[in-house]
Amino acid sequence: MAYAAFRSIGAYVPSKILSNEDLATMVNTSDEWITKRTGIKERHIAAQDEFTSDMGVKAAELAIERSGIDKSDIDMVVCATISPDYFCMPSTATIISTKLGLGNATAFDISAACTGFIYILSIAKAFIESGMKKNILIIGAEKLSSITDYTDRGTCILFGDGAGAAVISATDNKDEAIIDVHTGADGTFADLLMTPNGGSGSVHDSLDQEANSCFMQMKGNETFKVAVRTLTKDVVEILKENNIESSEIKHFVPHQANYRIIKAVGDALKLKEEQVVLTVAKYGNTSGASIPMAINDIYERGILKQGELMLLDAFGGGLTWGSALVPFSPLK
Ligand SMILES: CC(C)(COP(=O)(O)OP(=O)(O)OC[C@H]1O[C@@H](n2cnc3c(N)ncnc32)[C@H](O)[C@@H]1OP(=O)(O)O)[C@@H](O)C(=O)NCCC(=O)NCCS
Repeated sequence: MAYAAFRSIGAYVPSKILSNEDLATMVNTSDEWITKRTGIKERHIAAQDEFTSDMGVKAAELAIERSGIDKSDIDMVVCATISPDYFCMPSTATIISTKLGLGNATAFDISAACTGFIYILSIAKAFIESGMKKNILIIGAEKLSSITDYTDRGTCILFGDGAGAAVISATDNKDEAIIDVHTGADGTFADLLMTPNGGSGSVHDSLDQEANSCFMQMKGNETFKVAVRTLTKDVVEILKENNIESSEIKHFVPHQANYRIIKAVGDALKLKEEQVVLTVAKYGNTSGASIPMAINDIYERGILKQGELMLLDAFGGGLTWGSALVPFSPLK
């Protein structure tokens, strides 16, 4: 049987920084309030002519180069995004694949909001274990600034842009294999976090520009409580099912939504500070890109080493949630 190995990581962060002080000139907020409630100090914002696919390509180039796998051997590209280049089609994965020169590799997007990277990890694992594909490029890429209402202080303080990518490959060596991936969803909480306008569910006049905007809307406080509950339950279950103690996790890489949410989950799992990966202060919430950007951060800081076990954990609009037990298994 083929197993799926997490071979490499790459990320891209746009250069423009939007700080808490900048936001305080745009809406009624302050650096002190944002820092205390979220842990976010700044987020990066893509240039106007820089699309989600452009960021995805830059992250993917690094991931492919670091994987040691020839790009002609990549046979599938999956992108997790809620801010695609184009509404509906073509998919951002197809654009990324073509910009990278990956020939006719299978390419498609999935929509699972902030849990997107864990969903595409599960897809890559399943395709490889079934023998259908051998080398899969997975990308979380978001230009959330394009769907953020910068007059709404309840949401605009949270989100940023960026991309992260990984190469997942077939291996015979079980020690290198992704151990498990859990995913779940519950649409009864759909109204906590959504883009209510612009789709076929929108009943507004088609000429009403404002009603057709794809801006995110969120019930922050309720989202916060459900996030802590769901994230904790999910990681407890995946650890238990695989007979792994939280002390065996080298890197806990949670979705970077809010420092207080991450702290609550880390405390519930009795994780030590050095086990918890934190990038929320400098990138904010980059939805499907947040986990691979955080993994890239520890990789580039030299903290992530061959064979070390990562526990990934995410939660997002939908609601969706997921977790994964992933050893880092580079080829070189
Ligand atoms: C958004 C969030 C930071 C708000 O923090 P909170 O402690 O829940 O704050 P509340 O929404 O209860 O609002 C408290 C007060 O702060 C105000 N407030 C909201 N945003 C503010 C801001 N940016 N600056 C200053 N005040 C703000 C509210 O208007 C409210 O004022 P009031 O008491 O006079 O009515 C927090 O709920 C959160 O992070 N939620 C999770 C969001 C998330 O992670 N979403 C993505 C999931 S993937």
